[in-house]
Amino acid sequence: MNDALVNLNGRLVPGPEARISVFDRGFLFGDSVYEVLRTLQGRPLFWAEHVARLQASAGYLGLDLGGSPELLRARVDETLAAVPSAEKYLRVIVTRGEGDLSLTGAHGPATWVVIARPLTLLPESVYREGCALQTFRLPATDASGLDPRAKTGDKRLGVLAETAARQAGAYEGLRVAPDGRVLEGASSTFFWVRDGVVHTPPLGAGILAGITRAQVLRVLAETGMPFAEADLQVSDLPGAAEAFITSTVRGVLPVNRIDAHLYGPPGAVTLAVRAAYADAMARSVAE
Ligand SMILES: Cc1ncc(COP(=O)(O)O)c(C=O)c1O
Repeated sequence: MNDALVNLNGRLVPGPEARISVFDRGFLFGDSVYEVLRTLQGRPLFWAEHVARLQASAGYLGLDLGGSPELLRARVDETLAAVPSAEKYLRVIVTRGEGDLSLTGAHGPATWVVIARPLTLLPESVYREGCALQTFRLPATDASGLDPRAKTGDKRLGVLAETAARQAGAYEGLRVAPDGRVLEGASSTFFWVRDGVVHTPPLGAGILAGITRAQVLRVLAETGMPFAEADLQVSDLPGAAEAFITSTVRGVLPVNRIDAHLYGPPGAVTLAVRAAYADAMARSVAE
């Protein structure tokens, strides 16, 4: 990552030179929590929400963050200031630190990594045309999907879904529970529109508590657009009129195909949600 700058435990290092120990529990066990953010007008977007999720993830794992949100913000601001681009991509990773190879043995203070690099957005043409998803049926051993209580370094389900999707020529994998319920994208929240109502699976389905998901639901409520949290069987996907995915960096991204089913160009509801979310982003940095 030549264009990345890394803040490693308070020390700024060029991306290619940033190193952590092989005994770090983030490396050994995926024993880490993380957040991906973007800036808008140079400031981290939805900072408070991301910090709250980081704290919740750490609390769930019993991982001592070892520093305050104010210290984290200072590290983030210092790192952002050193990246020469208007808008930036930001990844904050906190691991449980270096350990002794046992699952619960002695371990050092938390490792803090802040990675900043210039923000690269998808071309506007992708938003005009939409993207293709490929369903990925989770093995029976993963019946509960992803634990919504924590955003952790264990990305196994995402890697499996994304790899299968790319091999099939699709943009992103769409995880489906062993019982056929549609869950979420490999690294995004899934929404569909039916009879003018925007739907997304409930968190209890086994999906990440997406920050963009929460913001989209908030603006839907504010603007009076009808929405519901509901389960959807994969066999009912073709009955949806529109579909889109959301994530911090991509915002609201229309879907034009899932497996062999074509949805066509982005629909009116998806475009309205994208516009409302853009307003919410702009308002949040103006506050
Ligand atoms: C599994 C999963 N779901 C959803 C999302 C979207 O979350 P957010 O809107 O907080 O970026 C991500 C983002 O990385 C993810 O990995």
